[in-house]
Amino acid sequence: MNSSDKVMLEEINQEINTRPLWLPFTPNRQFKSSPRLINRAHGMHYETTSGQKILDGISGLWCVNAGHSREPIVNAIKKQAEQLDYITAFNMAHPAQFQAAEMIANLAPDGLDTVFFTNSGSEAIDTALKIALGYHRANGEHRHRLIGRERGYHGVGFGGVSVGGMTPNRKVFSTALLPGVDHLSHTHNLEHNAFSKGQPSWGAHLAEDLERLVALHDGSNIAAVIVEPVAGSTGVLVPPQGYLQKLREICTKHGILLIFDEVITGFGRTGSPFAAQTFGVLPDMITFAKGVTNGAVPMGGVLLSEKIYEAFMNGPSEQIEFFHGYTYSGHPLASAAAIATMDVYKEEGLFDRARELAPHFEAALHSLSDLPHVIDIRNCGLMGGVELNPVDGKPGKRAYDIFLSCYERGVLVRSAGDTIALTPPFIATENDITHIVDTLGAALKASTR
Ligand SMILES: Cc1ncc(COP(=O)(O)O)c(C=O)c1O
Repeated sequence: MNSSDKVMLEEINQEINTRPLWLPFTPNRQFKSSPRLINRAHGMHYETTSGQKILDGISGLWCVNAGHSREPIVNAIKKQAEQLDYITAFNMAHPAQFQAAEMIANLAPDGLDTVFFTNSGSEAIDTALKIALGYHRANGEHRHRLIGRERGYHGVGFGGVSVGGMTPNRKVFSTALLPGVDHLSHTHNLEHNAFSKGQPSWGAHLAEDLERLVALHDGSNIAAVIVEPVAGSTGVLVPPQGYLQKLREICTKHGILLIFDEVITGFGRTGSPFAAQTFGVLPDMITFAKGVTNGAVPMGGVLLSEKIYEAFMNGPSEQIEFFHGYTYSGHPLASAAAIATMDVYKEEGLFDRARELAPHFEAALHSLSDLPHVIDIRNCGLMGGVELNPVDGKPGKRAYDIFLSCYERGVLVRSAGDTIALTPPFIATENDITHIVDTLGAALKASTR
C-alpha cells in the first residue's frame, strides 16, 4: 500500500487502502487525497467516519425520499434475506415481486398497470427503449428511430447515453452510440425563464421541435420519444407550461410512444406519486428506480400499458415473448424493500408532505436570488436548482467548490454542472430546509472568486 493511499478511519481506528477502488462520476485522485467517508446514516443525517454529522440535502442521490435507515425497510430486508435470498428470475418467481409490482402499479397513473423489473435506472431506460422497438415490430411496423432531448440524462447504458444529451457523457463514446437517434432541443432559457417559480410560462412551443423531426424522417419511422418530465442531472429544468401536453399530442398524432424517465421524479418528488400525475400527462411508459426502495437495495423498472404488454403476448404460449431480463430482475431483497417502502410512503403520507413542504422550499430557495454568482433559481415540488455563473474556462468548478464548502459546513448538496441541486428527503422539517438553504447561502457569500 502506498502511504498516500492510506486513510485512517478515526471512529473505528482502522486503516483502509483507497487504491483498489475506482469511484464512479468522481475525480478519483482529488477525492482520494481527501476522502469524504460516511459510516452511518439515520433519518435526515449522515455521520462521517470521524463522527461529524452531515445533513442530507439531496436524499442520498434523489432516492432516500423517506429518510435514511428506516426501520420497517431495514426489517423487511433482513426478514426476506433469512427467508429467501435468491431465486432465478427466469422461469421462476417469488410472491414478493408480484406484490411489489401491484403496489407500484397502484400508484401509477391509470392505464400503466404492468411492471418490468430491472436493477437500476440505466437498465430501466435500455429496457424501455427495447420494449418500444419490440412493440412496433409486434404490430408489424418498422419504427426504429429513437428521440431524446438535449441536456437529458438517461443513465449510462449505451441506449441511455445515445438518447441522453449530456456532452461529457457522450463525447468519448460518440462513435459507439446507437444509430437512428435524434434529440429535441432542451427547454432551458435564461433570457425568458430565469427565476421562474414552478413551471416557466415561456417555452411550450419547443415541443414542436418534434414535428421538425417527424417532417425529416416521417413519423412512421419513429418508435419513441424519451424525456425526463423534469430534467434532474442537468440542473433541475422544469418543463414550460403546456410543453409536455404538446409533446403528448404530437406523439399520439404520429403513433410514437412517449416515455417519461421518472427515475428521479418517481415516488413523490414532485408532490404526486409520479410527475405524469403532477403535470396531467399520460405517457406510454414510465421508467423508475431510486425511490422505489428508498435507496436501500438497487431496483429499477418500467411501467407500461396493457396495450404494450398485450402486443408482446401474441406467439405460441410456450415461447419467450421478450428476450430481455436480468439475473436480479425482481430480486427478493429489492422486492421486500419496495413493498416496505410503499408502505412507509403511504402510512406517513409522504407524497402529500412533499407537496405541503414545496411552498416553504420554494420561498427559501428564491431568497438566494441576490447572492453572489446566482444567475437562476428553479424549483418543482422538492426539487430545486440554483444556477451559478461559471468560472471562466472551468465549467462546473464554481458549483463543485460550493458543494465542498457546504460539506465542510455540514450539509450535503449536489453540483450538476454549474447548478447546485437540492432535493431534501420528504421527512425534512421546515427548519431542516431553512438550514440547508441558509448553508448554501453562507457558502455563496463566502465564495469570493
Ligand atoms: C433521469 C434519470 N434516468 C436514469 C438514471 C440512471 O439511474 P442509475 O444510476 O440507477 O442507473 C438517472 C440517475 O440519476 C436519472 O436521473
